[in-house]
Amino acid sequence: MNILIISGSVRTGRKSHDVAVELQRRLIGYGLIDTHVLDLAAYNLPVLEEKYLLGNSDMPKGLAEIQQMLDRADAMIFLSPEYHGSYSGALKNAVDYFWKEFQRKPIGVVAAASGKFGGINASTDMQQLILSLGAFPMPYKLLIPMVQNAFDENGKIADEFLSKNFDRFVSEFAWFAEAITDRKAKESTTIKNKQ
Ligand SMILES: Cc1cc2nc3c(=O)[nH]c(=O)nc-3n(C[C@H](O)[C@H](O)[C@H](O)COP(=O)(O)O)c2cc1C
Repeated sequence: MNILIISGSVRTGRKSHDVAVELQRRLIGYGLIDTHVLDLAAYNLPVLEEKYLLGNSDMPKGLAEIQQMLDRADAMIFLSPEYHGSYSGALKNAVDYFWKEFQRKPIGVVAAASGKFGGINASTDMQQLILSLGAFPMPYKLLIPMVQNAFDENGKIADEFLSKNFDRFVSEFAWFAEAITDRKAKESTTIKNKQ
């Protein structure tokens, strides 16, 4: 199963990208070895002016690469900082370039914030966004309150409770994503057998 974590903070000095790195490490450790991070900061996508057909010469740089990563993914995780009570504009802007790449895919949400509520508003807004994309939002989510204190100087999670939440999220995500991808695999086998 190919898993893509979309890291939605592009801010200089960002903290929530550390969460993407830790999450990838834990998913791989869980056995989901085909897990990748799409770091939106690496692309500098312009604010969407037009939806592009793939192959258009005037497509923003990197868009084809992002499209390939999204297409390849069987399951995804949207990770965003909480900005003014919602998810980041960078995440929304990137998502708006696409649609079918998300359809019927299982997607988990992770939010990080400097406040004590861990990005709860960003997380519910992301679940709403996922529904609008025709994808399946996972009910269980991972919230990271006071993300600036979440990692120690060695990059390890500083708090045992938070560490357990990471593990619970990873196992819930594996269950949820596999349930949907297994169903799809069964469907395609049935179609092949009928041909
Ligand atoms: C434009 C902006 C709006 C923000 N709004 C909130 C907010 O509504 N609630 C909150 O807890 N933190 C808020 N923060 C703080 C972020 O949660 C904080 O920067 C945190 O480190 C996660 O974002 P980062 O990945 O950009 O570092 C805001 C930060 C920015 C830059």
